[in-house]
Amino acid sequence: MTRKIDIFDTTLRDGEQSPGASMNTEEKLVIAQELVRMGVDVIEAGFPVSSPGDFRSVQEIARVVGDSAIVCGLTRAVDKDIDVAAEALKVAKRPRIHTGIGVSQAHLEHKLRITEEECIARAIHCVEYAKKYVEDVEFYAEDAGRSDQEFLLRVIQAVVNAGATVVNIPDTTGYSMPEDYGARIKSIADNVIGIENVKIAVHTHNDLGMATALALAGVKNGARQIECTVNGLGERAGNTAVEEVVMAIKMHGEELDAHTDIVTTELTRASRLVSRITGMNVQANKAIVGANAFAHSSGIHQDGVLKARHTYEIIDPADVGAAGSEIVLSARSGHAALRHRLSELGYTFEDEVFDDVYKRFLEVADQKKEVYDEDLESIVEERQREVSAVYTLNALQVSCGDPLVPTATATITDELGETHVVAACGTGPVDAAYKAIDQVVSVRGDLQEFSVKAITRGIDAIGEVTVRIVSEDDKVYTGRGSDTDIIVSSAKAYVNAINRMISTQRAREGK
Ligand code: KIV
Ligand code: ZN
Repeated sequence: MTRKIDIFDTTLRDGEQSPGASMNTEEKLVIAQELVRMGVDVIEAGFPVSSPGDFRSVQEIARVVGDSAIVCGLTRAVDKDIDVAAEALKVAKRPRIHTGIGVSQAHLEHKLRITEEECIARAIHCVEYAKKYVEDVEFYAEDAGRSDQEFLLRVIQAVVNAGATVVNIPDTTGYSMPEDYGARIKSIADNVIGIENVKIAVHTHNDLGMATALALAGVKNGARQIECTVNGLGERAGNTAVEEVVMAIKMHGEELDAHTDIVTTELTRASRLVSRITGMNVQANKAIVGANAFAHSSGIHQDGVLKARHTYEIIDPADVGAAGSEIVLSARSGHAALRHRLSELGYTFEDEVFDDVYKRFLEVADQKKEVYDEDLESIVEERQREVSAVYTLNALQVSCGDPLVPTATATITDELGETHVVAACGTGPVDAAYKAIDQVVSVRGDLQEFSVKAITRGIDAIGEVTVRIVSEDDKVYTGRGSDTDIIVSSAKAYVNAINRMISTQRAREGK
């Protein structure tokens, strides 16, 4: 039997650090549930001291995940951070505190301004302090990829002696070459006394496009935990992508002496879900989950694949959940068919919520011949977005054309239940709709990016609009809206971005 490699998913922490990818608690819960279905071993749910919103997310995720996975909270090597993380994790059945400190010369000299001895003392202290709260304490040696090898060994030996259960060796800046990084992991595995009782984790960034190669080099040399994110989200160029590393281990398990317990058929769905929630599109040629990952275009390739699939395809699309669904849903489908398909997609609802979803399904089905899985996901997510809304767009009427002056009339309800009917003219129908909405909402956001994509198939497809707006304090908020009418999608996306801005600002202020 090969070694079991733990998959530590940090989509909700490092992934959320991608600019514009911030998520509210409800959205994080949806992703956490998908991570559980995927069978990840550890969910890093957030950085609890960073904001009341993050604190609440960690708490809620811990509650929902139960004992299905370890739930982890990040801290700096600061007592207050650890106190707050421990408080957020109180309800967790399997809590882990992830604490640590920078260990490279750049961090010691310029960021922390401490000596090596002070760094070791703080590393020991943070592990011992976290151990007062939880048994499972992971230590990260930030920027280990660029640290002095001898010093790194001393730090790791010290935290292992202090009781760390996992030691994380991040290549924080994605600087390393795979051979060097692998050698670093091997030197820890070979030299640290007591390391056989502690897991070595790899946490690699993609600045040189090598995050997956680095993680695998680490596994080959003794690491037993990989830290990764769905779609490779994360700081700057992102982290190791879970779908890549899991499938690479599946294909090369023998030579790596490794396997994971990930349900690989969930990978495509997780990718789509995270992309929609964060508004970060997946490039078409992305490995494993890109739209073209299993598309054969040239005649020579098509001929080969038709004769024998493995001539040009190393993975069966069904293995990563990329195969299409067989059940065709339409306006004639009843409750049972919809419930069945939704549960296959991993959604189960109380009756009252289901009735609402069914109503929306019929509205979409009335406009389309077939309702696909992507339509259903869009319906469910749209509803989830509205549940935490400050403003709700109830109706939108637009008149435009040549030579008309584009005019929009919007009906919006605020959180106090008051309904506002407003109208405005603009340079185009979207501009008119946004100007009308601006008359009601209490905050200002400058539109930075606007993109439209058809998320389902056919001329009658649901179109999803993603917008990014910038607040007065220079923060970016993403909003999404979907509808068969693209102007309505645009207005919904704008209202959604405004709602996220308001709820994030409130969470930051602890409201
Ligand atoms: O990249 C990194 O070093 C991190 C640590 C906080 C684990 O994300
Ligand atoms: Zn990181």
